[in-house]
Amino acid sequence: MKLVENADLCPFNTLRIPARARAVARIDHWYEIDRLLENRRCPQPWLILGEGSNVLFRGDFPGTVVRIDNRGMRVSDESRYGVFVRVAAGENWDRLVRWTASQGLWGIENLALIPGTVGAAPLQNIGAYGTELKESLHRVRAYDRMNRKWMEFTNAQCQFGYRTSRFKEDPDSRYIITEVTLRLQREASPVLSYAGVADGLPEERALKPTDLVQHISQLRKSKLPDPEKHPNAGSFFKNPVVSGPDLERLRDDHPKIPHYRAGERHKLSAAWLIEHAGMKGRAMGGAQVSGQHSLVLVNNGVASGQEIWELAKAVQERVYDAFGVILEPEPVIV
Ligand code: EPU
Repeated sequence: MKLVENADLCPFNTLRIPARARAVARIDHWYEIDRLLENRRCPQPWLILGEGSNVLFRGDFPGTVVRIDNRGMRVSDESRYGVFVRVAAGENWDRLVRWTASQGLWGIENLALIPGTVGAAPLQNIGAYGTELKESLHRVRAYDRMNRKWMEFTNAQCQFGYRTSRFKEDPDSRYIITEVTLRLQREASPVLSYAGVADGLPEERALKPTDLVQHISQLRKSKLPDPEKHPNAGSFFKNPVVSGPDLERLRDDHPKIPHYRAGERHKLSAAWLIEHAGMKGRAMGGAQVSGQHSLVLVNNGVASGQEIWELAKAVQERVYDAFGVILEPEPVIV
């Protein structure tokens, strides 16, 4: 374990917000968690973080940021139910996607290049290009800080929803995720239904999971701002889900509004709403709505967390005024 007091959080959040925490503790092995709990130099509250790709620090954090940095990935079992892959929470998500694809395994290719760690993936049920983590997740191993015991959660117990899970809903970082088991398959099962995914791909019969990973990575790079060049936290808002009557009301005034079925309800495109509320490219201080993709807020180099938050609130207000729709933030707001 490595502990730094009065630590700079800038390297630990992809928005590159210059906040501080009373302590940052890095855990390399799950068995270090016990020792951490006893450590008086790790004051409460705690915030569990992977690579910090889905968090906004509005100011300094008054407690301890715990970074889970354990490593390891391996096939643990293979049966007619699938190929089970056990992965340490601290592994980089995209590295896992590339490794499983190189092993000829299908299931998570469309989630290529999503920033962050494996342990953070179940928290918000990461999703892209027609796939969500919940379709491939078998189990999550986590430490329950409230009851001081180790837990194994099945897929159903994770209570996954669109960009959410029981882990995201539980306040105060109650669970520390240390390991994730995926259920993948050897039989080809590409998901090519999302708009634009099938364009320019080799014929489906010849397709390998590595081809799809490569293709999705290029698609993602062409659409979303690169967090290395334009610090960001991915989509800053969830796509709003509305009822049938609400959709009809919106279509009366805006016949071109994009919408997709989501069970009995309808998903709207937050990016479209933001763009058509006139906020694409809009800057406030060092914070800017990306001119490349309006769902992403970027730090132009000098933004404070508060500035990003003020811009987010301005976007919410403009979208509400124009369409009567409430946008919910997607990252964890601290
Ligand atoms: N659009 C605009 N203006 C823009 C960008 C997009 O009007 O500046 C409209 C277009 O009509 C486009 C539609 O939005 O057809 C959808 O855009 P896109 O395919 O980029 O998807 P999204 O709904 O904006 C979601 C996820 C992304 C994920 C993509 C691809 C959420 C909150 N976001 O974005 O996830 O990569 O689909 O599957 O669901 C993330 O969660 O951080 C993330 C990047």
